[in-house]
Amino acid sequence: MKNNYNHIAPVYDSLSRLVFGRAQVNVQRDLLASVVASSRILIVGGGTGWILEELAALCPAGLAITYVEISSEMLRIAKRRPIGSNLVEFLAEDIQDYSAAKCSYDVIITPFLFDNFLNSTAKKVFFQLDALLSAKGIWLYADFYLDPRKESSWKKGLLFLMYKFFGCVCRIEAQTLVDMAPYFQGSGYRELFCSFRYAGFIKGIVYQKP
Ligand SMILES: C[S@@+](CC[C@H](N)C(=O)[O-])C[C@H]1O[C@@H](n2cnc3c(N)ncnc32)[C@H](O)[C@@H]1O
Repeated sequence: MKNNYNHIAPVYDSLSRLVFGRAQVNVQRDLLASVVASSRILIVGGGTGWILEELAALCPAGLAITYVEISSEMLRIAKRRPIGSNLVEFLAEDIQDYSAAKCSYDVIITPFLFDNFLNSTAKKVFFQLDALLSAKGIWLYADFYLDPRKESSWKKGLLFLMYKFFGCVCRIEAQTLVDMAPYFQGSGYRELFCSFRYAGFIKGIVYQKP
């Protein structure tokens, strides 16, 4: 199975904190501040689900969340999180197989999801999610980032090592980072807010759909 985080799920968060400190958490916290009460939210690739606790701390009730996660182990851990009085539907599936009957979401969250995908998958998933987001809805996007205007060998080196590691352990399909900005720009999304962490290697953006 591609993109299989099952083996690593119990230690994934510790590993992330070891390498990046709280940068991956903090960039997502920066973005979550844009979520308003009573939102319908789709989270894809939320991992162990700590983001559900963060959302509950911001909005303890009234959120309707769909949590799509391909790893059954990640999902098992996520289900144990305190979620306040919010409603969470947990789905153990590949986002590519997910079809919401007639739901359109106010918020879509893809935290460190697209770095797993080949360009062809990233493109397919982008347009699939775009169709699920309502007009003026927001898309909270967080991922690694290489600034094309700056030469940064340590970032390229770290990215290379990460792809080698996750390629071996999780069999992730990607070997390089896909630049998702052209997809958002090409579909008319507006950048409302942007946050950088870890010396600019981690970037979070709040996009708004036209
Ligand atoms: C790099 S981890 C990030 C986890 C979490 N967002 C975080 O920041 O701690 C990527 C997550 O995306 C999930 N994932 C990868 N491909 C997926 C897919 N096609 N559909 C749904 N989830 C996927 C993995 O199982 C994993 O939990």
